[in-house]
Amino acid sequence: MRLNALPALLLTLALSSVAPVVAAEPAPLAAEACLGCHGPDGRGGAGAIPIAGRDKAEIAAILLAFRANERPGTIMGRVARGYTDAEIAAVADHYSRIR
Ligand code: HEC
Repeated sequence: MRLNALPALLLTLALSSVAPVVAAEPAPLAAEACLGCHGPDGRGGAGAIPIAGRDKAEIAAILLAFRANERPGTIMGRVARGYTDAEIAAVADHYSRIR
């Protein structure tokens, strides 16, 4: 990503936390990486754990615990370590809004 694209990305993330996000909209960039393992829109299926529609604070707390190595897992610790606090908040907000 070129550096001058960053303000636009941050603006998009900021706006997406205000505007209601419906499942049909593309996931914010930080949430895209979850889809491969947690199913379309994070709804699970075919062995994938659903994460959509769960409480925002709960999703964020789980991700923070994975990142801090306080919650056991096979892969999520490594995934969560790639996310900043702000990205975890944005991702938790995104998935909590999917019904
Ligand atoms: C490479 C596959 C993979 C990716 C990518 C991934 N996950 Fe996970 N996720 C898992 C697995 C597997 C578990 C079960 C815990 C473990 O083994 O690490 C899990 C567990 C979770 C849980 C806890 C579910 C529960 O009920 O215990 C949450 C919440 C979660 N992931 C959210 C996310 C979010 C948000 C993202 C994107 C930032 C993401 N995951 C990306 C595979 C993945």
